[in-house]
Amino acid sequence: MEKLLIKGGAPLKGEVVVSGSKNASLPLLAAALLAGGASVLRGVPALRDVKTFGSLIGNMGAGFTFEDARAEINTAGIGNFAAPYELVKTMRASVLVLGPLVARYGRARVSLPGGCAIGARPINLHLVGLEKMGARIQLEEGYVIAEAGRLNGASLYFDIPTVTGTENLMMAAALAKGTTVLENAAREPEVVDLANALISMGARIEGAGGSLIEIEGVDELKPYSYDVIPDRIEAATFAVAAAITQGDLLIRNVRPDHMDAVSIKLRETGAEVARTPEGFLRVRGTGRPKAVNITTMPYPGFPTDVQAQFMALMSIARGTSIINETVFENRFMHVPELKRMGADINLKGGLATINGMEGLKGAEVMATDLRASASLVLAALAAEGQTVIHRLYHLDRGYERMEDKLRAVGADVVRIS
Ligand code: EPZ
Repeated sequence: MEKLLIKGGAPLKGEVVVSGSKNASLPLLAAALLAGGASVLRGVPALRDVKTFGSLIGNMGAGFTFEDARAEINTAGIGNFAAPYELVKTMRASVLVLGPLVARYGRARVSLPGGCAIGARPINLHLVGLEKMGARIQLEEGYVIAEAGRLNGASLYFDIPTVTGTENLMMAAALAKGTTVLENAAREPEVVDLANALISMGARIEGAGGSLIEIEGVDELKPYSYDVIPDRIEAATFAVAAAITQGDLLIRNVRPDHMDAVSIKLRETGAEVARTPEGFLRVRGTGRPKAVNITTMPYPGFPTDVQAQFMALMSIARGTSIINETVFENRFMHVPELKRMGADINLKGGLATINGMEGLKGAEVMATDLRASASLVLAALAAEGQTVIHRLYHLDRGYERMEDKLRAVGADVVRIS
C-alpha cells in the first residue's frame, strides 16, 4: 500500500496547473453512450476513476482509449448493457451509465452503488425520474434492472438538487420523446459542462446552471469532440494549500467564476485571493488564518467537496469556527485523523466545532475517502515534523500526481510503497 511522507513547514510558492474536472469528465464519458460512433474528450485527468470508467464502458463492448488527457469512446461495438458490482463498488459515479443506456438501448443492468464512507448515497431520485419517463425499474439482488421502449418527456422535481441525478436524467431526456422539465435541478458547473456537450451533440437544452432545466428530446445525437472544464475542487485544494502554508501560489487552468464561495471564505480567513489578468487565481497566505464559519450547500453555496480541506485550515486558525455539513450525513471521517495531529475538533450531528491551535504535529494518519485524504495532505504541509498518510488510493481517485505538483512548489513530499 502506497503512502505519502510529508515534512511540513515549507511555504508553497510558484505555479500549479490544475487538471481537468473529475466530476465533469465522468458524466461526459457516460454521455458518449448516447451517440453512435467515436466521441473525443480532451483535458481529461489521469485518475483512477477515469480508468475505472474506461473499464466500465469497455466491459460493455465500447472502444475506449485514453492518452495525454485525451479520451476516445467508440460505441459501435456495444452489446452488453451492464455495470457490474465489482466496478460500481469502486466508483459510484458508474450509475451515470443508467440514463444513457436506457435512453439509447432501452435496457440496463446496473449495480446499486451501495453506500460509501461519507454516507448512504441512495439513487432513488434517479430511479423515480426514469420511471416517470416510462422506464420499468426492478431491483434484483443488488442490481437495478431497467427496461424501456422510447422514453417519454416528463416533469420531474428533485426533493434534493442531486448532481448525478440531474445529469442522469438530463442525458435520458435528451433522447426522449417530447419535453422534460427538471425542477430543483443541481446548478453545479459540471452539470453545465455536460449540457454544453449534449447541445454540441444536437440536444435541445435550456436553463442548465439554473434550478429549472428544460430538455426537448430529439431522435438521434451525434458524437462530441469536447474540452472538459478545469477541476474547481482541485483548484480549491491548492488555494487552501497556499493559505495553510502561508505561501503564494499562482493557480492556472482554473475558472475563478466557479469558485466564488471558496474565494470569499478564504478571504474572510485573511488570505489574499485575486484573479490575474490572464484569468488565473493568485492565493497568498498572510499569517495565521482567522476562524470563520462555513455551511456546505449545493452550488453556488460552499461546496461539500472542499469542507474537509477547509477544516484543516481552521485547525490552525485564530479562534473557534463552526463547520455545518448539510449535504452528506457522515462527511467527518477526516476529524479523528486531524485530531491525531493535534487538532481540537468536537462533533455534534452535522456540526463540527474547531478550536484553532497554534500549530499541528506530524503523525501517522489514514485516508478514509477522497477529500479527507486531501485534508490530511494540507494539514501535513503545515504541521511540524513528518506525517505519513496511508491508503493513498483514496487520494489518487481525484487528484492527478498531487505530490509532483506540490513538490514543484516547494513541498517536502515523497510517495513510498
Ligand atoms: C456528486 O455526487 C459528486 N460526484 C460528489 O463529489 C459531490 O460531493 C456531490 O455531488 C455533492 O456535490 C460526482 O459528481 C461524480 P448528490 P452525487 O446526488 O451526485 C442525496 C467527490 O469528492 N441523494 O448531489 O452522488 C445524497 O444522499 C465526490 O468528488 C438522495 O437522497 O451527490 C446526498 O445527501 C464525493 N437521493 C445529497 O442528495 C438521490 O437519488 C446530494 O447528493 C440522490 C442523492
